[in-house]
Amino acid sequence: MNILDFEKRKLNQQKISMVTCYDYTSARILSETSVDILLVGDSLAMTLYGFENTLSATLDIMQLHTKAVCRGAKNKFILGDLPFLTYRKSMSENISNAGVLMQAGAHAVKLEGAAGNTDLITRLTQSGIPVMGHLGLTPQSIAMLGGYKLQGKTASAAEVLKREALLLQEAGCFSLVLECVPAALGKEITESLLIPTIGIGAGRFTDGQVLVFQDLLGLNKDFKPKFVKTFLNGFEQIKNSVDHYVDEINSGVFPSDEHSYQS
Ligand code: KIV
Repeated sequence: MNILDFEKRKLNQQKISMVTCYDYTSARILSETSVDILLVGDSLAMTLYGFENTLSATLDIMQLHTKAVCRGAKNKFILGDLPFLTYRKSMSENISNAGVLMQAGAHAVKLEGAAGNTDLITRLTQSGIPVMGHLGLTPQSIAMLGGYKLQGKTASAAEVLKREALLLQEAGCFSLVLECVPAALGKEITESLLIPTIGIGAGRFTDGQVLVFQDLLGLNKDFKPKFVKTFLNGFEQIKNSVDHYVDEINSGVFPSDEHSYQS
């Protein structure tokens, strides 16, 4: 996947697949899959570090994880998520913060919301930094949104999102994440844009889909929002493997001669 392929995919009605990836080992696995894009998402604050929301992700953390993912998946399009407030400073600071993720190896950055971001998006693209937008449920605004809820439910809220999607396209975004909006609104926004939309909890009509890696693997045992489909019972399988390992230690089965040096 290359930056030029996004437009082509939309024109040819070929779906785009994206998954979050935060570390080298996962990146090596994902590099051998057919997934199109790896997102080093600020959701790592919650998924990897156990924070309550994404506000604790910092540019330093995102830089480190972006570098790890890039080392593990040299063949993939890698997107770096700009964390909370790192693109709400002066124009030059915002640009150099985005530059940090690009220099870490990302092929593009993602940022949340339209209001107050459109000039920056234009400047970033003029500076050689492709930008993916993110509308709907924007987790960095959780304190304003009052919880992880479906967005764009009323006619007026839907109108705002439709307008913002067009503004992001005009500003220069090459693509857009739509998070937690009704499927009909996801469809309407998708059809109104020339750039592809990538949905999470936005229904089946978006141009692509994204899920958090740990969610699709079923690693987050007690996290089952409606939009997550688990493709593996990862929590149970890993737990059982570790218990099996401990059983073999206790029973003397591991290590056998096969796993021991003889001289
Ligand atoms: O940080 C993240 O994982 C994201 C996705 C949910 C789109 O922004």
